[in-house]
Amino acid sequence: MKPIFLLGFMGCGKSTLGRNVAAIMHIPFIDLDIFIEQRFHRNVREIFAERGEDGFRQIERNVLHEVGDFEDTIIACGGGTPCFFDNMDFMNSHGTTVFLVGSEERIFSRLKRGKHKRPLLANLNDDELRLYIRQKIEERMPFYGKAQRRFGSDRLDSEVQVGETASRFINEIILNNTIHSEQ
Ligand code: S3P
Repeated sequence: MKPIFLLGFMGCGKSTLGRNVAAIMHIPFIDLDIFIEQRFHRNVREIFAERGEDGFRQIERNVLHEVGDFEDTIIACGGGTPCFFDNMDFMNSHGTTVFLVGSEERIFSRLKRGKHKRPLLANLNDDELRLYIRQKIEERMPFYGKAQRRFGSDRLDSEVQVGETASRFINEIILNNTIHSEQ
């Protein structure tokens, strides 16, 4: 199986879903941000501070090309990965791209808790965060919209929900996908 790239806005559940789908399937999972952090011995916030966003995007592109040929792997991209260079075309030609669709409200509540790790959000208050989410999703939709598949990822709030959503993902995306590619 070619790699599966999970795409979508920050806080839409790419890492949670990807990790659980991979565990059920007994296949490797890569979180692109963590892959970068391990490679550079720095967290994403520090890389942004030292090299600016442009520097981070260049690194992100390079590691995407590195993992793009991996077999049987679930890859959770960063929220901005599809929106720079020709990353979206690269992913579409190297694997299956799945856009995780989350409601603005769910994304807001996840990001309110997790914004400190994310350099683009760290300094925003609640109103600014809501506005940022709305504007940025709209701006990024032309890129996310090029994904081959879409998958609703709102139900990831408890262990039970994560298990159910991961099973649904496997049935809808991976098993269907295998049938399609064998035909
Ligand atoms: C970013 C999303 C982050 C991380 C970086 C930039 C973005 O990943 O790559 O902070 O531009 O949307 P997550 O989507 O995993 O939070």
